[in-house]
Amino acid sequence: MKAWYIESYGGPDKLRCGDLPEPQITPDDVLVEVRASSVNPIDWKMRSGMTRLILKHDFPLILGNDLAGVVVGVGSRVSGFSVGDAVYARPDKRQIGAFAERIAVQAYEVAPMPAGLDFAEAASLPLVGLTCLQGLGGLAGLAAGQKALIHAGAGGVGTFAIQYAKYLGAQVATTASVAKHDLLQSLGADETIDYRTQDFTAVLKDCDVVLDTVGGDTLRRSVKVLKPGGMIVSVSGPPGPEFAREWGLSLPLSMVVSLMSAGIRRRARAAGGRYRFFIMHASGDQLREIATLVEGGVIRPVIDRVFDFDKTRDALAYAEAGHATGKVVIRGLTGN
Ligand SMILES: NC(=O)c1ccc[n+]([C@@H]2O[C@H](COP(=O)([O-])OP(=O)(O)OC[C@H]3O[C@@H](n4cnc5c(N)ncnc54)[C@H](OP(=O)(O)O)[C@@H]3O)[C@@H](O)[C@H]2O)c1
Repeated sequence: MKAWYIESYGGPDKLRCGDLPEPQITPDDVLVEVRASSVNPIDWKMRSGMTRLILKHDFPLILGNDLAGVVVGVGSRVSGFSVGDAVYARPDKRQIGAFAERIAVQAYEVAPMPAGLDFAEAASLPLVGLTCLQGLGGLAGLAAGQKALIHAGAGGVGTFAIQYAKYLGAQVATTASVAKHDLLQSLGADETIDYRTQDFTAVLKDCDVVLDTVGGDTLRRSVKVLKPGGMIVSVSGPPGPEFAREWGLSLPLSMVVSLMSAGIRRRARAAGGRYRFFIMHASGDQLREIATLVEGGVIRPVIDRVFDFDKTRDALAYAEAGHATGKVVIRGLTGN
């Protein structure tokens, strides 16, 4: 089958398209014909080797962490899925490979596609949606009446996070460049701050939850807007000791990780709050929740551009430039 893969880490030229063997399904897998996939920063971070210390993969490594498609094979222990079902998934981080004609995915990571969406729209949702459910809902416990700051509200995570935080009943402030403010208000944002010309710490205070998708100086300054008892949930900042434990990192790596986040954890504690970094995980059950939200009109996909399969390298380059509004989607090779 045709797939986009790397044989070593590096720049955009490392990504190649070619024929690779068909995926083999285990008894617990479903085989999905990919009709659409979407790009996430983790794709180019994996390609460049940024994730290699915590994520071990063999080469050739097919990239791609989000997909929507049609079930074309079912493992012997799988129940609940049949050939012909339209499904969507974020495969487990050790079993990625959505930039291909077909992919084997563990059945517990898969869910029926939300009714009313096409494949491109469905493929835009899994990774960012699961990140928001697990970060805002799960870890931070964002509740009705609370105030949330969503950084990079115009990004893939941000456009979902704004809608989800509103669904949870929160008051939502977000940072984005000014041209994107109308869109973010239409998604429900109560307050939009131009990160290029405004200092969010000068206009915001008492946030119960900050979702940090930017890291660096933005993360450091976020402590200033935190309410005592509040939490910064980061998907971009340095990992902390909880992450090291959850991921079973070696002792030396755990020590490095704890050191990396010592400063921001100390600052958050000094402000009476907490800092937590996490990496989202695959979950078919939560994708079912997301489908219900989509079908109920709570969440709508936001897509910047759709690329053809043979333009996958361009799709990654476009996303890697860091200015997409919502998601960058890739049409599957089959069925479009
Ligand atoms: N740990 C996890 O589980 C996890 C899960 C998902 C994502 N992530 C990470 O989260 C980050 C965001 O992911 P994403 O998919 O949302 O990225 P993305 O879609 O590529 O984000 C692009 C958006 O970010 C905006 N932006 C860039 N810098 C900004 C700043 N300083 N302030 C406000 N907005 C800014 C850009 O707006 P302009 O065009 O106006 O600059 C653009 O709209 C990435 O680092 C990704 O790796 C981690």
